[in-house]
Parts: sequence; structure tokens; C-alpha cells
Amino acid sequence: MPTAGKINAIEHKLQYRPEPLMTNTAFTVREMRETDLPTCLEFTQQVKWPHRMGDWQLHFSQGNGSIIENAQGDIVGCILWWDYGDEYATVGLVVVPAHMQGNGLGRKLMDTVMSQTGERSLQLVATVAGKRLYQQCGFTEAALIYQVQGQLAGAVEPLSSDAGIKPLDTNNLADIITIDAAAYGCSRASLLTAVAQQGKGLVAYRDGKAVGYAMLRTSGHGQTLGPVLADDDDTAKALISQVLASETGFIRFDLTERAKGIQPWLESLGLAQVDEVSLMVKGEFLPARASGSHIYSLVSQAFG
Ligand SMILES: CC(C)(COP(=O)(O)OP(=O)(O)OC[C@H]1O[C@@H](n2cnc3c(N)ncnc32)[C@H](O)[C@@H]1OP(=O)(O)O)[C@@H](O)C(=O)NCCC(=O)NCCS
Repeated sequence: MPTAGKINAIEHKLQYRPEPLMTNTAFTVREMRETDLPTCLEFTQQVKWPHRMGDWQLHFSQGNGSIIENAQGDIVGCILWWDYGDEYATVGLVVVPAHMQGNGLGRKLMDTVMSQTGERSLQLVATVAGKRLYQQCGFTEAALIYQVQGQLAGAVEPLSSDAGIKPLDTNNLADIITIDAAAYGCSRASLLTAVAQQGKGLVAYRDGKAVGYAMLRTSGHGQTLGPVLADDDDTAKALISQVLASETGFIRFDLTERAKGIQPWLESLGLAQVDEVSLMVKGEFLPARASGSHIYSLVSQAFG
């Protein structure tokens, strides 16, 4: 049992907040530019996130970025948000380098985004470091996301389901944009068009109607498989196994709770859970009012 003195010391440590380095007015927020990306990439590398420059370019090209500068013009934080229409946006790539944390910069970046996004409901995936800040901004946990990844254990056997599976191309891109909007609760047309151009994909049809799709692109430590949408687990497994059939190397998924049933099968392919994170929302969680197919895997934690 700790002594009373030790308890007081622990309580003091928990309550202690370092004095701010400078007042908040010493920092200015401005729009992110493409020339800021090398610094932003350094920030994500410092916190051991796997983003490569291509990932930053995709997130930047689809998003609205802000950076925060100190009085000398050095970048001391970054944030982006992605606009999915009048009702919804996601927020991500929020980083303040370690030596600048605890000075209200994270809050200043969040305040910037909350004013830019207006009435939209907001979604983000919180790290342990960010959760408290987001709670203070009015976000609450809406779902769990499971980060699953690894080196493929061997050649993936292509499985079938009662759905017919076709390659994703410019002719059926509109089909996936439609089913994605129904499942996600709002349209992600621009994002899905950009992701389709970066990699390859498959679409599942039943009775001539699209019921699912999967996209694979180069990202992070290897390739990311997402989004994956399907109307049942067998179709999700068929899409995933067929898209991975000729692949080797490192694969990452950010799975939703819906994908719990296929996780043991993914593990048999060499893809194990390495993290569980909170998906937080301020306002309405639009995917909860979805219809049709189910989301099994995100595009990325930032994009949703
Ligand atoms: C999460 C992160 C962006 C927060 O940035 P930050 O600039 O440290 O955030 P803030 O300073 O605004 O707030 C953090 C804490 O400092 C406190 N704080 C705010 N203004 C302050 C001030 N002027 N003086 C002292 N403390 C202050 C806040 O109350 C908060 O404390 P609490 O968590 O105990 O309540 C930052 O920790 C980070 O980049 N972490 C690594 C990457 C990451 O995990 N990003 C989140 C992705 S979802």
C-alpha cells in the first residue's frame, strides 16, 4: 500500500500542468500548402505513424489543411479535415510535436476546424494522446476500430460467394459511389475516385446490383485494404481473398466492429490485430443511419 505522502506526490504529479511556453497569441494558424508536406511528414514520423509522402499527398489533395506557426514562422502543428457534404466531415492528421505539446496548440487547431466545418457532424479516430482533447471539444466515442496488419503468410486462396465479382474500373465506379453513400450516410465520391486511381479494386454484384467492393492501394508500410463494403461476411471474404490473391508482403486493415466475424480468418492469413482505437463523433454518427451494405474496413483512420 502506498503511504499518504506517496499518494499526495502521485496526485500532485497527475494535477501538475507545465506553464505554457508562450501565450496562444504568439502562434498563428494558416492554410496548409503543398510545400508544408515534408514538415508534416516529419511530424507523423516522429510519432511513429507509417505515412509516406504519397499518403500525405492523397490526404492533402482531398482535404482542407491548416498549420500553426510560431512567431519565427516555424511550423508547430498540423490538422486536416475532409468534406463529405453539408452534413458530415472527418478530421485527422492532428499532430503537435512533442516539445510544443501542452500549450493549447492542439485545441487551437481543433477550434479552427470546428469553425471551418460549421454545422457538420464531425468524426475522427482518436489516439490515446488525443482522446482527452477531443472530449473537451465535445466528441464522444461512437465505435471501435481494430487495426489489423502483417505480412501475408503465403498465397491467399481466392474464395467465392454467391455474388459475382468484377474488377473495378471507370464503368462501375458510379456503382460503388452509390452503395458507399448508402452505407456511410453521405457521399464520398471525390475520395473514392482518387483512391480508385491509386490502386486496384473489385466489385461484388448480386442480381445485377452492386452489394460490395474492396480497394487496395500502396500506403504506409506496404498496402492498405480499404474501404471494404459487403452485405455479408462471405462476400467480404470473397472480395478480400480475390483482391489479395496475387499479393505478397505487408497488408493493413482498419476494421469496423462489423468485421469481427472475419477476423479469425484474417489472422489465418497472417493479419493480426495490433491496436484498438476509438472512433469519436461530435454531432450525429452518420454511418449509424446507413442502409444496404456494411462497412468492414476504412479508407484510413483519418478519412473514415
Ligand atoms: C493530441 C495532440 C495533438 C494534443 O496537442 P497539444 O497541443 O498538446 O494539445 P493542447 O495543449 O491543446 O491540450 C493538451 C493538454 O494541454 C492542456 N492545455 C491546454 N492549453 C494549455 C496551456 N495554455 N497551458 C498548459 N496546458 C494547456 C489541455 O487542457 C490538455 O490537458 P489535458 O489533456 O490534461 O486536459 C498532441 O498530443 C499530439 O500531437 N500527440 C501525438 C499525435 C497524436 O496522437 N495526435 C492525435 C491524433 S487523433
